[in-house]
This record gives sequence, structure tokens and C-alpha cells, in this order.
Amino acid sequence: MMPRHSSESSVRCVPATVSGVADVDELARHFRNQAMTMVERAPFSAEICAAVAEDREIVELLLAAPHEQRLPVLLLAAIHDQVLGDPACELGSWYPTVSRSPRTDPVAGALARHCRTHAVQLRQTIGTRSTQTNEVGRCGLFVPALGLLDAEVGPLALVDIGTSGGLNLRLDRYEYHYRPGGSVGGPSTVRIETGTRGHLPIPSALPSISGRFGLDREPVDVTDPISARWLTACIWPEQTDRFRRLSAAIEIATEQPVDVRMGDAVDDLADVTRTAGALGHPVVLNSWVLNYLPMQRRAAYVAELEQIGAERDITWVYAESPAQCPGLPFPDAILGEHVTALMSVRWRQGRRSVDYLGRAHPHGYWLHWVGRPSTNALAG
Ligand SMILES: C[S@@+](CC[C@H](N)C(=O)[O-])C[C@H]1O[C@@H](n2cnc3c(N)ncnc32)[C@H](O)[C@@H]1O
Repeated sequence: MMPRHSSESSVRCVPATVSGVADVDELARHFRNQAMTMVERAPFSAEICAAVAEDREIVELLLAAPHEQRLPVLLLAAIHDQVLGDPACELGSWYPTVSRSPRTDPVAGALARHCRTHAVQLRQTIGTRSTQTNEVGRCGLFVPALGLLDAEVGPLALVDIGTSGGLNLRLDRYEYHYRPGGSVGGPSTVRIETGTRGHLPIPSALPSISGRFGLDREPVDVTDPISARWLTACIWPEQTDRFRRLSAAIEIATEQPVDVRMGDAVDDLADVTRTAGALGHPVVLNSWVLNYLPMQRRAAYVAELEQIGAERDITWVYAESPAQCPGLPFPDAILGEHVTALMSVRWRQGRRSVDYLGRAHPHGYWLHWVGRPSTNALAG
């Protein structure tokens, strides 16, 4: 299937008139709700949502997206994308990502002028793109796990499933600061800070990586400036630390691109893992990906890993939500929890062991290291 953003020919502009008034009212309610839920974490984005909710012409822009994509965050990202493309535009002076001292007076007037002037381009973006994430902060979760593995079976050949732009495959180019704990890696333009609890095994050096492969059903080509800009536009503009970190990681990836392939997590896992296995101990990584798979496909993914693990030594390290990924081998104590669980499953000479490494913030801002074996059976 053609990714929504991959080709101009896939532009899908739905005229506002084809959807009924009820749609617009409902969407306006979504913007109002979004404003309320994000006001503490992202007050500027909340102000935009609140302003959009009161302006039917802006709300209608979202009707250019297919029904399931009509999310306030898509419109927010489309507007942010335009601001990033033209930082000197009037609206840019409110955006912390392009203005050193962003304006704090009400943005509604400038927002309305911007959206009316750029309605055609906004509809085109909204009609062809969907929001995307590649969170390099999650490397702060992977590094301690990979440090242990490197000491055991390194060098490591990484296979990042649901890799997005492949940015987490360059984790050995970033610097890490664990508080408390210590630092490792760098110097780097990508600085990852992680608050810690527990006895975190911070490696004395970053793991040696002998291969890196990414797989995604809709990979983001971060060497293409337009795709890279869209990825950064999907970050809320007040999250300037994430924005700068992501931009710096994109620069590194542009200098040293990794092998990112288009493919499916289940159907193409074995092939890419075998390719990686020729270069080092294969480590399959996935973070915030398996929640996109229906239950049966998640079970099939685990079954594929079991099959590979029966044939050769491999390790699977994942950071996923127990609440959103039932069927993965999480310890009973955290089943159904809305947390990011860091897990490691090792197959050594056909024998499998499962370790619950810790619980974490979804973007890696903190990690509570647990580091204990878990007896859970894998989903069958
Ligand atoms: C929320 S993003 C996470 C990206 C990256 N793992 C990270 O932590 O930043 C989820 C990614 O999974 C990909 N994805 C979802 N379902 C997939 C599938 N069946 N096969 C491959 N990739 C998939 C999406 O395209 C998207 O890039």
C-alpha cells in the first residue's frame, strides 16, 4: 500500500462540503476536549486548539483527512509544518520552535489569518500525511539493556522493528545522562537525560554495534528535508527539548544513513533478523509499535521470534505498554498497566528466559530499573 505521504499522486483533498455540519460540530468538540487535556503539558498547543474550536472555517480544514485521521493533532502538525517551512511568517513569532522570544499575547487572530491564507496547502498536507513519531529519548531506555547484552554476547546487530526514521539505530552517536547514576557516550549534539530509580547498570561505554537495520510499514526518509520537517512538526512546539534533540538526531542520520526498509513487522521480521545475524548477535528492538498490531498479529510476531530463537541465539528488547499490548510476556504485576515496560527476552541454545528490566516514561524521561527474571510464558 502506498504510504499516505509518499507521493503527490496520493493527494486526497476532500472538499469540506462533502461532510455534514454534524462532523464539523463534532470536530470542534474534539478540539475543545483536546485543549482541556493538554493545557498543563502544552499550554500553547491548547490555546491553538481552543481557538480552532471557535472557528468553523479552520475546523473544516480537517475534513480533508480520511475519517479515522481527523485528529486535532494532525491539524496542529500541519500548521506547525508550515511555520517551520516559513519561520518568518506572522504566526511564527508565537512558536517557540522558531522564535527565540515567542509572543505570549493571544494567538487566535494570527492563527485565523494564517489558516485562511494557506488553506489550500493545509488541506493538501492534512489529506496526505498522518502524524509520525521517532522518539530518540527511548534510546536512554535501551542503552542499559544493550550494555548488559554487549558484555554477554556483543558485538550487537540491531533490528529495530517499527523504526520510523531509524533514528534509534544510531544510539551509539548520542550522549546519555542518568540522574542519579552517571553519564556515558558523547560528546554529541543529541543529549538524552533520564531520571532514574533502582540500581541502573549504566555501562562504562556505549555498546559496540556491528549492524543496524530498521523495518517499518511506513518508514520516514529523514534524509528528505520535507519528510524530516514533517517528523519534527509532529512534536508539540512547546516541547523544545524534544524538538532540538530530534532535529540533531536527524542531522546525524543524514550524515550517516542507516538501512531502513519498508516492510511488515510480522511478515519481514525473520528475513531482516537473519541478515543482521550475519553481522553480530541479533537484537530485535521495538518501542511503542506493537500496540498498532491487532492481537493476532502480535501473537504472530512473538511466534516468529520463537521460531528464530529455536534456530539461533537472539535477544528481543522491547519498550511497550502492557495495557495496550495484551499477550506480550509481561510480569503479572504490571499486566494491564498504562506504563512503558522495558523487557528483555533471550534465547540461548534454544532456551528462553524473560527479564522485566524496568518501567519507564513513554519518551524515556525516567526509568525505574527493576532487572529481575519473569516467569511468564510467551503468548502462543
Ligand atoms: C509510534 S511509532 C514508534 C517509532 C519508534 N519505534 C520510536 O520508538 O520512536 C510506531 C511505528 O510503528 C510502525 N508500524 C506500525 N505497524 C507496523 C507494522 N505492522 N509493521 C511495521 N511497522 C509498523 C509505524 O509506521 C510507526 O513508524
